Amino acid sequence: MATPETNDPNVQLQDLYAVWGGEGLQKGLAPGLLITGNVMVDRSYLENPRNVVLDSKSNREMFSEWARRTQEHGSKLVMQISHPGKQCPVSVTFEPVAPSAIPMRVVHFRPLFWKPRALLATEIDAVVASFVQAAMLAQSFGFAGVQLHSAHGYLLSQFLSGFSNRRTDQFGGTLSNRFSLLLNILTTVRACTLPGFIVGVKLNSGDFLSGGFSRDEALSVVQWLDETNLVDFIEISGGLV
Ligand SMILES: Cc1cc2nc3c(=O)[nH]c(=O)nc-3n(C[C@H](O)[C@H](O)[C@H](O)COP(=O)(O)O)c2cc1C
Repeated sequence: MATPETNDPNVQLQDLYAVWGGEGLQKGLAPGLLITGNVMVDRSYLENPRNVVLDSKSNREMFSEWARRTQEHGSKLVMQISHPGKQCPVSVTFEPVAPSAIPMRVVHFRPLFWKPRALLATEIDAVVASFVQAAMLAQSFGFAGVQLHSAHGYLLSQFLSGFSNRRTDQFGGTLSNRFSLLLNILTTVRACTLPGFIVGVKLNSGDFLSGGFSRDEALSVVQWLDETNLVDFIEISGGLV
C-alpha cells in the first residue's frame, strides 16, 4: 500500500493502522502491541514493489503520522524492518544479493527470483548500517520499537541457514558465525537507540530445508538471544517466503 516510486506510508495505510490501533479499545479491550508489515531498509532490494521503505529519502511527515495515529489511543507500534536477500523478485531486480550465490531450493519459486550473487564484506557492513539507520529513524518518527525480521527466508534468516549461507569468512560456517550478522545488527541498534526503545526479533523455528536452519539451531539462537539481553521479545515463525 506504499506510495508508488517513493515507497512512503500513505494516508490509506495510516487509516488502516489507525483502525487496528483504536478499534479494540472501543470494545473495551486494553491497548495492545502492533507490529507493522515488513518495512524495507534498502530501496534497491524490495520484497515487493509497493513495500514501505525507510531510509534517508523517506517522508518524515508520513512516517510520523503513521506512528502517531496508530498509537493515539495507547497502543504501541513496532516497525518490522527487513531486507529480502535472495527473495527479491524479478519485478524489482535481476541481481538479488544473498550470503552465497545459492538459488531458491524450491523449484516452483525460481521463476519469481533471479539467482543471487554473494554479498561482499563491505556490502555486509552496509546492510548493518541500513538496519541501524532504519531503527534510528523509526525511533525519531515516534515508533515504540523495531522488530528485526530474521524469519521466512529473508536475508537475516538466509545468513542463519546452512543451506543458503556457504560463506567461508566470519559470517559463515559454524552456527555462531552464521548468527554474527544478526548479533552485530542487534548490538549496534541497541547502542544507537534510547533505553526503553523496544527491540524484537522474528525468528524461524526452522526453514524446513535439508541442510538448512534446524529446530535445534533455532533453540540455540533463542538461548543466545536470551543471554545477550539485547532483545525484548522473540516471535517464532517458520518456513520461507
Ligand atoms: C499476504 C501476506 C503478507 C505477509 N506479510 C508478512 C510480513 O510483512 N511480515 C511477517 O512477519 N509476516 C508476514 N506474513 C506472514 C504472516 O504474518 C504469518 O507469519 C503467517 O500468518 C504464519 O503465522 P505464524 O508465523 O504464526 O505461523 C504475511 C502473510 C501473507 C499471507
